[in-house]
Amino acid sequence: MATTAAGRPTAFASPHYEMRVIASVDLRAIRHNLLQVRRYAGDARVMAAVKADAYGHGAVPVARALAQAGADALAVACLEEAVVLRRADVGLPIVLLEGVLSADEAAAAARLALQVVVHAPWQLELLAGLPAGVAPAVWFKLDTGMHRLGFAPQQAGPLHAQAVARGWSLCGWMTHLACADEPGHPLTGQQLQRFAGALAGLPGARSIANSAALIDHPEARADWVRPGLVLYGASPFADRDAAGLGLRPAMNLDARLIAIQQVDAGETIGYGAVYAAERPLRVGIIAAGYADGVHRVLPSGTPLLLGQRRVPLVGRVSMDMLAVDLTAVAAARIGDTVRLWGEGLPAEQIARRAGTLAYELFCGLTRRVHFRYHD
Ligand SMILES: Cc1ncc(COP(=O)(O)O)c(C=O)c1O
Repeated sequence: MATTAAGRPTAFASPHYEMRVIASVDLRAIRHNLLQVRRYAGDARVMAAVKADAYGHGAVPVARALAQAGADALAVACLEEAVVLRRADVGLPIVLLEGVLSADEAAAAARLALQVVVHAPWQLELLAGLPAGVAPAVWFKLDTGMHRLGFAPQQAGPLHAQAVARGWSLCGWMTHLACADEPGHPLTGQQLQRFAGALAGLPGARSIANSAALIDHPEARADWVRPGLVLYGASPFADRDAAGLGLRPAMNLDARLIAIQQVDAGETIGYGAVYAAERPLRVGIIAAGYADGVHRVLPSGTPLLLGQRRVPLVGRVSMDMLAVDLTAVAAARIGDTVRLWGEGLPAEQIARRAGTLAYELFCGLTRRVHFRYHD
């Protein structure tokens, strides 16, 4: 931080300009986490979930890092996401997890050599409408108990027959577990049984495991695992942290201290006056708010990280700012960097305070956040 001769801050330290909210993404951590995934996955191949802009981390740089580190395929939710990766020349198979939504998308998917998940009869029709000689590469999705997408398990035989009759290339069979992150949940065993039963005797690769199943359900690893969250260094479990699983957080979200207020006991802070100072407080105003992706529901007491010290949020998060109690950090100065989540302050902990998951925090970052990549 630059200071005047009198020791007062002049401006932020950058020779150009200093950014407000910065998401620093460490691609080395992504590669490390992929190696960890490989350790859990055994012989299974890895289809890395990079949907939703790589869970808010930036699809292209993340996909390139994953390709470099040896991922076998990438999974995205929709055609638009696949197009971004193809334009960036990421040279891995790409799987469309929700498949195609229209005849145009079916044609585009074939042109881009995408592997499409087929989860419903109307999608079979879209693929059947492709011109003769265009053979789509398909994953059939079975609904074994999640009841979100997929054919009934007893449809597996007829689906296979249809793929053979139409000359489609069968990549494999997929299902998704509803409760893999809840140890001992009976639905997981039921889903695994239904999947195995439905596919007995049928050819084609099997894919079941998300991050939680990859770690906790070796019997679900099958031919392809489909991890997302763990690649970004967060734990899918409520009771186990990422470090204990051998993962490194890939994102640090940092913002700047832009004002310091001395608030008397009994005064309130921020919108709605929901927080009243019980004693005189030194309050720091951080330039990050819900318009950046910091959840407004975060309660007072939620920790942020200033250097090595945790400082508690006080009052409501507003659109562009939030306030913290700086009383414990006498050395805090305008321009200091304050961590919202990342190393030293797992996103999972912040998510819990907001009543949500790290998935939603990551995906909720807005376009106002600046991204920096470290490699
Ligand atoms: C079909 C499918 N497979 C895999 C994943 C990856 O899940 P996770 O991020 O929990 O590993 C998702 C994510 O929601 C998904 O929808």
